Amino acid sequence: MMKLSLLGLAMGLASQAALAAPTAPPLQDKQAFIEHLISQMTEAEKIGQLRLISIGPEMPRDKIREEIAAGRIGGTFNSRTAPENRPMQDAAMRSRLKIPMFFAYDTVHGERTIFPIGLGMAATWDMEAVAKVGRTAAIEASADALDMTFAPMVDIARDPRWGRTSEGFGEDTYLTSRIGQVMVRSFQGSSPANPDSIMAIVKHFALYGAVEGGRDYNTVDMSLPKMYNDYLPPYRAALDAGAGGVMVALNSINGVPATSNTWLMNDLLRKEWGFKGVTISDHGAIQELIRHGVARDGREAAKLAIKAGIDMSMNDTLYGEELPGLLKSGEVTQRELDQAVREVLGAKYDMGLFKDPYVRIGKAETDLKDYYGNDRLHREAARDVARRSLVLLENRNQTLPLKKAGTIALVGPLADAPIDMMGSWAADGKPVHSVTVREGLRRAVEGKAKLVYAKGSNVTGDKAIFDYLNFLNFDAPEIVDDPRPPAVLIDEAIKAAKQSDVVVAVVGESRGMSHESSSRTTLEIPASQRELIKALKATGKPLVLVLMNGRPLSISWEREQADAILETWFAGTEGGNAIADVLFGDYNPSGKLAITFPRSVGQIPMYYNHTRIGRPFTPGKPGNYTSQYFEEPNGPLYPFGYGLSYSSFELSGLNLSSKDLKRGDTLDAKVTVKNTGKVAGETVVQLYLQDVSASMSRPVKELKNFQKLMLEPGETRTLTFRISEDDLKFYNGQLQRVAEPGEFNVQVGLDSQAVQQQSFELL
Ligand code: NOJ
Repeated sequence: MMKLSLLGLAMGLASQAALAAPTAPPLQDKQAFIEHLISQMTEAEKIGQLRLISIGPEMPRDKIREEIAAGRIGGTFNSRTAPENRPMQDAAMRSRLKIPMFFAYDTVHGERTIFPIGLGMAATWDMEAVAKVGRTAAIEASADALDMTFAPMVDIARDPRWGRTSEGFGEDTYLTSRIGQVMVRSFQGSSPANPDSIMAIVKHFALYGAVEGGRDYNTVDMSLPKMYNDYLPPYRAALDAGAGGVMVALNSINGVPATSNTWLMNDLLRKEWGFKGVTISDHGAIQELIRHGVARDGREAAKLAIKAGIDMSMNDTLYGEELPGLLKSGEVTQRELDQAVREVLGAKYDMGLFKDPYVRIGKAETDLKDYYGNDRLHREAARDVARRSLVLLENRNQTLPLKKAGTIALVGPLADAPIDMMGSWAADGKPVHSVTVREGLRRAVEGKAKLVYAKGSNVTGDKAIFDYLNFLNFDAPEIVDDPRPPAVLIDEAIKAAKQSDVVVAVVGESRGMSHESSSRTTLEIPASQRELIKALKATGKPLVLVLMNGRPLSISWEREQADAILETWFAGTEGGNAIADVLFGDYNPSGKLAITFPRSVGQIPMYYNHTRIGRPFTPGKPGNYTSQYFEEPNGPLYPFGYGLSYSSFELSGLNLSSKDLKRGDTLDAKVTVKNTGKVAGETVVQLYLQDVSASMSRPVKELKNFQKLMLEPGETRTLTFRISEDDLKFYNGQLQRVAEPGEFNVQVGLDSQAVQQQSFELL
């Protein structure tokens, strides 16, 4: 009996085991979970995961849902509300393996609340402010049912003709690296799986900011030491901060397009840097391999891209069309396919989508009534960051701050320009939410001073440029032309100026002028606006120029006309309020340039940390045969790190804790900073290092640290900067990262030019 029952039990267990579905590994074990999933996937399903599809005119939405349900799409971009994304996720849940979709978007400097453009963010030199941008953007984007952002953009830009200079954090490696890291951490929070986090995709890997001549999409040619020392560290820093992915650049690098560049994606990114996330091509980049001249046709382009290491194809056609044939012929292997799929599934896993595909979409009952409502905006944060981003370039005779009294003339084509206020890549920011300068000033002076407004000129009088800029926006005209003759517009502005105590002219670029594919041959303010400035100057009234632009402008002439100049970039949703805060002294400006302002376009490239040369131009020592341009003063108009305040600050007593540094030790540089002005204010103390003699010519100086601090009038504080061997390292001619023994100069200043110096020896 006993024997029988035991046998029966054993048989029962055996038949149960035979019937049970094969068990999947637990979700907690990422690797096993993904490998198991891959083992279940058909080849077509695998290819589907590599396809990132744009929500737009390219494919009707019902077709997209059909494709998703058939397992032929891995993710989409450009949709941005839960009601839009839920049906797509529902379709994915109807697919055979129920692999969730992800939803991506360019949430670059805000999602609905728009913060200053990248160049403005960088001008804050304030990592808390930068974190506020990333975190707020992530909160809003995740509430928009987005899982991923194509940001931060950490391309170093040293040629301001390039329109995308506006999107990055300027010319400097260290500052860009710091900001890139903070952006990644604030987008992703403690984990990209959190419901209020979005995954950061660092772009554009690599060197996109160095396109020849600043002409967008052009080729890049660069030495390896320059890459390693100057251009690559920001990508590395952002990845080390945990960014989940990389967007690969559109440009070629030393002749090989990034999209087919095995050295870039395999040797450098994967092997040398140990990157474990997903790589995504830029829009249409695989197809463009044909026009780059490295692929004969679409089939070869797809093959080159996947073999070089592009996991996911943005706006894909070629992976879908060509991979089946390439796999069949054995030109692309199962292993190569699986590797790309593994990274895509890994990213989905990291975004928490396998645990809950609706983690950011939520339930229909909790959908917002109005995704576009003003009540969703984080205006206070936007105003705070915006005013920190403004850089006071000139302030003769203390023209600023203005009094909230008398009559103020507000003129200029950008004074009342809600679209421009947001800058390029403004995600789902709505112009109707922008506080323009006109509105900001109106609120600030209400009941105290009179504000008279006149447009004064159009942004440009050039019809061809006007048409080009309006071509960029599909929804509405970017810039609206005032059809009145220029003289009539100017007369109106003069009339306004004459009845006022001071003139504020808001001039510069429309946002489309500093955008993707908006490279310029000149850095000047368009002629129509310069005519206006000339006429305003002739009235003899104090003239304040408020600049809006996404790149350094060459404003030598404007500098002579104006009594004060405030650089405001494209300051975002709350820009007008922030600008009013600074103009009236309710906030003391503290921004510093993250990019050099050249005197003219002919000086480009001009950046503060250029390599030392044999015949440098020496100010105050005129003569031939030094490196200079003889037709205009040499050096920048405004150097990197420059910016005024309504207060004044003095640095003194730079001293080093030792004259020698032993390897592995540290050394302290101390400096005293005093607020010698009458009002409280913040300033940025900047630390630069120079390697005096090395195996290669090194930069004249390099930013290595900075501290931003608030000082009351008369207050003095001593700051300490710790210097370690690591700060002295660079990639030498053999690409080894070394600190070479010998003398180093330590320079400390409130900009990159006016510095105090001490030196020490690395033993
Ligand atoms: C092309 C741009 O180069 C890139 O920055 C952007 O993220 C993608 N389009 C997606 O919009």
